[in-house]
Amino acid sequence: MEEGGNYEKITDRLRNPLVLFFSIMATLIDGRKIANEMYKSLGKDVRKMKTRHGVHPKLAVVLVGKDPASLSYIRQKQKACDKTFVDWEQFDYETDVTTEKIISKVEELNEDPTIHGILVQLPLPKHVNVPLVIRAIDPKKDVDGFTAYNIGKMFLSTEFEDLSSCTPLGVIKMLEYYKIDPRGKEAVVVGHSNIVGKPLSTMLLNRNATVTTCHIDTQDLAFHTKRADILCVGVGKAGLITGDMVKEGAVVIDIGTNRTDDGKLVGDVDFDAVSKKASYITPVPGGAGPMTVAALMLNVVKAARRLHGIEETN
Ligand code: GUN
Repeated sequence: MEEGGNYEKITDRLRNPLVLFFSIMATLIDGRKIANEMYKSLGKDVRKMKTRHGVHPKLAVVLVGKDPASLSYIRQKQKACDKTFVDWEQFDYETDVTTEKIISKVEELNEDPTIHGILVQLPLPKHVNVPLVIRAIDPKKDVDGFTAYNIGKMFLSTEFEDLSSCTPLGVIKMLEYYKIDPRGKEAVVVGHSNIVGKPLSTMLLNRNATVTTCHIDTQDLAFHTKRADILCVGVGKAGLITGDMVKEGAVVIDIGTNRTDDGKLVGDVDFDAVSKKASYITPVPGGAGPMTVAALMLNVVKAARRLHGIEETN
């Protein structure tokens, strides 16, 4: 993959006041560009899997209801499948579907040898028992990285990060692309959800960052965010992180998605103010969002490879 910027050069820049004066804008981390490069590479892999091994990677998606945000996410995932030549099958249910019915579909997909990835789009209606549904997914086909098995394994080390949660994996890929090594850095993750904050904190810790995870009960959020060399924020609160809460030269990853009253998509970070202090920053849209979908495709291809015993070099 093509080289991005260099974190060390940016921190050097901060030691030179003259250079600092003229470099007030952060480098934009272009999630769309990285995702598209990943699609190209994955598309080649998928073509090879088809011609050399007769394996057609396929993603099965279970969608309940017609939540507009879910429909939009699903469209993006379907487009990503098209770009990577991954097959797609969608199973739609009305909002009154029972937990048992969803589990029965998941179990059927577990047994289906033509399916390599299973994705149950969240949120599910309130009456559905989400942990039970997730528990039903075969960890080998858990391309969202939601099952206890896949989440638990990642606590051991990077070698055991297998099918990782897509947003954290997308964040790690962005850092790698721009050669930002978390080792020895103060990493602060704001948000402690099972699908973003906790796995991201774990993945940063696996890469030897000193990690602080903040959440709704954190007493003095700014105290922590101001210490961060790498600040990742994903709580779903527009404008949560203001310019004065960020250290000069920090790498800022905005994972939040919020709709403003006029329908604009914004993150959790006050982009205009924070981009004047950060060394690197992700935009919303165009940062963590596209990378989450790209990471999903990475997992689908990985799952297909594993299920058919195909080596990565093949
Ligand atoms: N709803 C919002 N984001 C996600 C995701 O990454 N995976 C699933 N399954 N549902 C979601």
